Order: sequence, then structure tokens, then C-alpha cells
Amino acid sequence: MCGIVGYVGRQDAAPILMEGLKRLEYRGYDSAGIALARSKKLKLFKAQGKVQALEAILPEQPKGQIGIAHTRWATHGEPSDVNAHPHPDGAERIAVVHNGIIENAPALKAELEASGVVFRSDTDTEVLAHLIAQSDAPNLADAVRSALRRIQGAYGVAVIAGDQPDQIIVARNGSPVIVGVGNREMFVASDAAALVRHTQQVVYLNDGEVATVTAEGFETSTLDAAPVHKTPVTAPVAQDDYDKGAHEHFMVKEIAEQPDAVERMLQGRLDLRFNSAHFGGLNLTPRELIDIERIKILGCGSAYISACNGAYVIEQLARIPASAEPASEFRYRNPVIEPGTLYIAVSQSGETLDTLMAVEEIKRKGGRVIGIINAVGSTIARACDGGLYLHAGPEISVVSTKTFTSTLVGFALLGLYFGRIRDLAPTAGEKLIKALQALPEQIRQILDDTAAIETAATFCAKARDMYFIGRGLGFPVAQEGALKLKEVSYIHAEAYPASELKHGPLALVTPETPVVAVLPDDALLDKNLSSIAEVHARKGPVIALTHPGVVCAAADHHVVVPKSVPELDPILLGVALQIMAYRCALILERDIDQPRNLAKSVTVE
Ligand code: G6P
Repeated sequence: MCGIVGYVGRQDAAPILMEGLKRLEYRGYDSAGIALARSKKLKLFKAQGKVQALEAILPEQPKGQIGIAHTRWATHGEPSDVNAHPHPDGAERIAVVHNGIIENAPALKAELEASGVVFRSDTDTEVLAHLIAQSDAPNLADAVRSALRRIQGAYGVAVIAGDQPDQIIVARNGSPVIVGVGNREMFVASDAAALVRHTQQVVYLNDGEVATVTAEGFETSTLDAAPVHKTPVTAPVAQDDYDKGAHEHFMVKEIAEQPDAVERMLQGRLDLRFNSAHFGGLNLTPRELIDIERIKILGCGSAYISACNGAYVIEQLARIPASAEPASEFRYRNPVIEPGTLYIAVSQSGETLDTLMAVEEIKRKGGRVIGIINAVGSTIARACDGGLYLHAGPEISVVSTKTFTSTLVGFALLGLYFGRIRDLAPTAGEKLIKALQALPEQIRQILDDTAAIETAATFCAKARDMYFIGRGLGFPVAQEGALKLKEVSYIHAEAYPASELKHGPLALVTPETPVVAVLPDDALLDKNLSSIAEVHARKGPVIALTHPGVVCAAADHHVVVPKSVPELDPILLGVALQIMAYRCALILERDIDQPRNLAKSVTVE
């Protein structure tokens, strides 16, 4: 969602800011803007739509060696030029960019209007610009602090002033802010993606911290102006991670990265001596684990679907009752937090607001929660009591691919570990480890021969509606396959447990409704074949996603992937469906990396 970039130094800021905004496009946004300070004056440029629309209204060589820029995802007020950030005060002396939501904006706005302030936009952020401008504090940092002390809600902000054109003030409360350290130039951003081209030396602000950033350095302090000493660290990402390289889209690049991502996920985590797994940061002793009576897994979108898979795998391997729930549903139903329950939060970005709020609700009620997170040091990762990182590298395409796969590997590792503490036999542990080790090569095999997937995709790309069916562990595969397809190709796709087909959706199966049947070679094969026969009898075209040796006479297309153990089969079946969704979207010429209306990290409700 919203993104912040800032620059202060010796170069003209505009090209650096515009390039930064382009790096943040993947997050999803609907307007963009930039503010530059020069000769004690601010210049603002804002445009609804893509960064290119903003580029089109910029003068040829906009001058100014300090500036802030923003991509906005509309929350308060429609997407429009005027609602785009940066927001100035009435005199256009200061400009503010803001990620997050100011919850008490209506009350503050009423108060400001009563004092004669005229608002130009419908945004909550404009409140902050006027509050800063009204402050009689001696410097910009103090003015920002006094304004922020009046704000309730979440924010990551960056502020510049025309009359103090040597500094950017940034602050964080619940929404990330990073300061990038250059050579006599400094950068700010809400996401390392906007910085890595310039520097990997970064400082992560914590909640409640404010930084004054000048070309020569930075000073950090609390909202109450108490100094905080912070040392730059090396950001765990490289510029390459944010480039498509030889690939046409980030989605296909990230699909191709999966063998490496799985290898990284396994690195150092397999315990060959005890046929188990080990983790650095779970912060749970075996004694504590043995007392766990239940596991509840939470996440949103693909993270929630991975949680459905995780609950199944952990329950099978460790014999601990486990279930999954969308984090957004969980947080609003006043959940009972049981002492014997271990909660697991799943999030690629570590920023999804509903997941964060669910974690905070659990912690507020005394529960214990671990995270499966990709973004190192992210808000959710820090809110959890422990957990494991995916180390999959940045995922730029809005739809999740490599992090979904890595999360499934994470659940298999947790299931192995919890299982080996309980009843899982060493031989069963050994078998699972061998299967885990074989995964990267098996994924490579799928990536190396996509002919059958492409044929199926060419067929499916003509459809308006599709069903995905599966049973047991095959059902989350069907769910993720349908989600992926609808996200990138806009083909209407629904997932159903295969057994539920005859209880409703079968009424809609016609020769125009392709059905993807997840058909692993497992104990439920015959049951699945019966469901496929029901579809075939209604002349519904069937794409069977299956294993070598399975004969499905009723299928019109076969996609065959290598066989693993049942707990890991969903990973390989899932990769094939990612490729199928990608190919359909390619045929239909969709905006694959940035599907309409979707955002990479959803930091609002
Ligand atoms: C958005 C993305 C999804 C993602 C979900 C959860 O909706 O478009 O691809 O699965 O957020 O994101 P998270 O970062 O918490 O995994």
C-alpha cells in the first residue's frame, strides 16, 4: 500500500525520488506526489493514477536538493490529485507524507476548522500538516513531535519545511520508516526497496521514535525529545532482489526462485541426528511444547490458505489439534485465548494490519504467539514471542508465490519438530527429511517442463468461470490455485472441497466451466476420481493435476508433477497452479505484477 521516499543531499532530489516511487509501485497505489524545497519555497506536484502520470506533470528538470514523495492507496477520500500526498499547510510552508491512519482526525479537523483553518483535501493526513504549521516550537522536529503527540493511530511520516530546507523529519508508530545512510546524502523510505539502489546501510526506526535527517547524518529521539542512539545496519537485501533480470515479470521470476527459496528455508534447520528439525528463534522449550494442547494459525489472503495447509500438516505429524482462521475474523470475535494454545501468525510482509491486530489481541490476553514471517524485523515479527523467518528474499509481485511455498516448508518443519517431540517415529522423521531435501530438485523439474501446464492454461484462458476441487491436503492447493488465477487473470474461480461439489456447485458445471481437480496419488484417489466422474457426466472439462501413474480417463488435460510424501505434495502441486495462473494472465495480457485493486501489503482494515 502507501509508500514514502525522501532525499536530502547534494544531488537534485526529484530523479531519486521518482525512481524510489517506481520501486514502491509493487505495493499498490492509486495516486502519487512529490514535494521539493528550493530557495526557501516548497514546490508540490501531485497526480491521480500511476507514477507516470506524476512524471508527466513534472517540469523538465525540477530543482531542489531535498524532497519527499509518496504513493497513496486511498482510505480517507477518493483517489484524486488533491487527496494525493504530500499535504501542505495553508501557507504551503511545510509538506507531509504519511502512511497509516489518524484515528482522531475528525475531532482534530473540527478543532482546526473552528480556529479558521481551511481544509483542501478529504484526507486524515492534512490534519497533521496544519497541526505542525500551528506549532510555535522553535524547530521543525519539535513542531512534528508536538503534533504527533496529539495524534491517535498508526503512522510513518516524513515532513519537510520550505524555511528549513536542510532536514527531513521522520517518525514512526506502527508503520515502517527506514533511514538510508549515504555519503554526504541521506535517504528515507517506508520500504528498503526504495533505498537499495543507493545504500544498504540503514537505520530502522522503532515505534515512538523521531529522526532529524540532514545530508550529513541523522539524530534519533523519542516523541518526548529524549535522545536515542542508533547505529546503521546492513539491509539484508540486494539491488538484484528488486530487479526482474531476464524475466518478463516479477511473478515468473519469483516462481523460478522457489528451488533456492526452499533450500534457504531448510538451511541449518534439519536435525539429521535426531531426525527432527531445529530453529534459532522459536523461543519455546520442548517442555513448553509438550504442554501444548491446541494450535491456532492466523493470516490473510495466501497466508491464510497456507495456514489451512499448516493446520492439516501439523495435526497429521504432531497429533496436536490444529486449525486456521482468517486473522481479520479472529480479531473481531472477542476470541477465547486458552493457556494451552499456541498461536501462529503467518505473514509475508509482516505488516498486514489484520494479522498484526490479531497478534496484539492474543498478547493482550496473555497468549503465546510465534510468527512465520518473510520480512525480517517487520512489525508482526517484532510483536511475536518468537518464530521463524522465511528468508525468501523480497517478494515484489503482488501475488504471493515463493513465500507461499516457503511457508508450507516452514509448516512441514514445525510439524516435524513438534511431531518428534511427541509421537512421530524417528523413521517417519527421516522419511520426511529426505522428502524435504528432494523438494528443490523436484520443483526444478516442474519449472523445466511446463508444456502440459501451458496447454491447460491456453484452454482455461478462454473460460469465464472455473472451479478448483480437492480433498484433505488437496483442498488448500485448490484454494490457492483459484485465488492465484482470479488475482492475476481475473477469471472467476472458486475452490470447493471435492466432496461438496454435489451439494451445490455441480448445478453450475457446464461444458463452459473448466474444473481443475487436485488429484494426488494418495488414500483419497478413488474418492477424487468419483468427483471427477460427476463433473465429466455434466460435460464439464476436467484438468487433472496429478502424479505419475494415475489414470484419470475422464480428464481432458493432465498436468503431472513429481510425487513427494503426502505432507509435501501440496508444495509441488501448488507450483504447477502458480505457473498455470501466470500463463493464463499472460495470454489475457493482464497487469500481472500489479493486478487491479490489489495491494502487496494491506496496512489498513
Ligand atoms: C494481500 C496480498 C496477498 C497476501 C495478503 C497477506 O492481500 O495481495 O497476496 O497474501 O495480503 O499478506 P501478508 O504480507 O500478511 O502475507
